[in-house]
Amino acid sequence: MSPQTLKVDYRELAAAIASLTEGETDEVALMATLACEIHHSDQRFDWTGFYRVTEPGLLKIGPYQGGHGCLVIPFSRGVCGAAARNGETQLVPDVEAFPGHIACASSTRSELVIPVRNKAGQVIAVLDIDSDQPDAFTAEDDRQLSAILASVFGRL
Ligand code: SME
Repeated sequence: MSPQTLKVDYRELAAAIASLTEGETDEVALMATLACEIHHSDQRFDWTGFYRVTEPGLLKIGPYQGGHGCLVIPFSRGVCGAAARNGETQLVPDVEAFPGHIACASSTRSELVIPVRNKAGQVIAVLDIDSDQPDAFTAEDDRQLSAILASVFGRL
């Protein structure tokens, strides 16, 4: 498959992540590994990383791949803030149409942000994937990535 057409094979991705993270419980080690594996699995993903809940109502940058991200995002702001605040995936086909979107890279056109929960069901972080392509993400991406996140962070 040429790099231009690389599209994620979720079965392969889930298997690689399960094998790489087996037995690991350190949050940062897990986030770093997932950011790397997910980012390189699909040409649509131009920024892939985690924002961690470090105090009530606040997200701080965690492990990521891509250009630099904002260091701090309050729950009240942006797509990441909305996902953390509502505990629900935000699938944004057009970032320009999302009120309060935080533009870390002007090239970003669409985003997928998924809450990350621990075993107790608390939102401990969000996974943020940004694409330079408009309308890059599908409900299937949400389902598959949510399942991977649950299998990895649901054991913490
Ligand atoms: N676009 C995100 C901010 C994070 S950066 O783009 C890496 C948002 O609005 O939440």
